[in-house]
Amino acid sequence: MENHQVEVKIPEIMLNSGHKMPVIGFGCAILPPLPQEEEVTIFIQAMENGYRHFDTASYYGSEEALGEAIAKALEIGLIKDRDELFITSKLWVTDTHYDLVLPAIKTTLSKLRLDYLDLYLVHWPVRVKRDANVNHLLEGEVLPFDMHGTWKAMEECCELGLTKSIGLSNFTCEKISKLLQNATIQPAINQVEMNIYWQQRKLLPFCKEKGIVVCAWSPLGAYGCFWGTNDIMENKVLQEIAAFKSKTVPQVALRWIYEQGASLVVKSTNKERMKQNLKIFDWELAEEEKEKILHITQRRLGKADGFIVPNGPIKSVEEFWDGDL
Ligand SMILES: NC(=O)c1ccc[n+]([C@@H]2O[C@H](COP(=O)([O-])OP(=O)(O)OC[C@H]3O[C@@H](n4cnc5c(N)ncnc54)[C@H](OP(=O)(O)O)[C@@H]3O)[C@@H](O)[C@H]2O)c1
Repeated sequence: MENHQVEVKIPEIMLNSGHKMPVIGFGCAILPPLPQEEEVTIFIQAMENGYRHFDTASYYGSEEALGEAIAKALEIGLIKDRDELFITSKLWVTDTHYDLVLPAIKTTLSKLRLDYLDLYLVHWPVRVKRDANVNHLLEGEVLPFDMHGTWKAMEECCELGLTKSIGLSNFTCEKISKLLQNATIQPAINQVEMNIYWQQRKLLPFCKEKGIVVCAWSPLGAYGCFWGTNDIMENKVLQEIAAFKSKTVPQVALRWIYEQGASLVVKSTNKERMKQNLKIFDWELAEEEKEKILHITQRRLGKADGFIVPNGPIKSVEEFWDGDL
């Protein structure tokens, strides 16, 4: 058997569910998707580089490739047991109907070839018609979000052992407060956009107080992706800090998130960049460096305006984010 020694040990964070999660996860949103075999190779390379936490979603179309990569990794001894991995997937907006949640997680599990997920997230606090084209929603296709019915079904997934933890994604403080009023199982995670340009100054302390771990998506601003921006990679403050510390800009951007007490998911299809993104644990940012980052003008990248349709239940971007823009 090959020796699959990994270089970096990723710290783990304890969730309120009693399960541990590696603080860095590998983002599996490869959009537009690559041929399945290429995605399998990327996920295997990520495991070889030490990633053990994988963040997919039914929307990404990468669950099957990840499932194949996991099966292959077990076969070649790269991992010895499925328990060594932390696998997250997400309930898509077409499935946030009470009776569609259980079928949705079962489909996800079958694509991943797994018996259980480590974490299942409500991808967005949004409900659309089952057969709607989410990339181009029309009048009448966005429905009022059934927060309590959706969460009840998520809790049932947990009780059935189909997932070890459940959580949220893209929820504001106001929506979390509303959800907590009727929740039997507390959300373990809220996965949200978080990076130096959107530092989540309101949500982060709120989640900490509630015992919910924030997980940052697009920590590098989705550099080069159609939904992303180059601003983080080209940011002068980060460039200066990186040059001074002999680190790269992405390393500084990721380390900053880690130092805020958040977890993060980052995606790279490139072996060297995957490796580079994990080398953030044996150094730290100085107070004055963090102070400079604090002065960066804030703006949200993902506004979710596609969910606003004429006469729909979400009237504006401001309303959707409860004014936190
Ligand atoms: N819950 C949600 O609503 C939500 C929304 C968005 C994303 N996510 C999750 O968050 C994950 C990460 O976010 P993201 O994919 O949007 O963006 P990201 O991780 O901020 O950025 C990814 C982009 O940065 C590039 N990159 C990565 N490391 C680099 C490095 N060291 N140097 C230079 N370029 C680098 C990658 O290019 P290469 O591949 O060429 O390296 C890729 O195009 C996603 O994959 C997904 O799992 C969740």
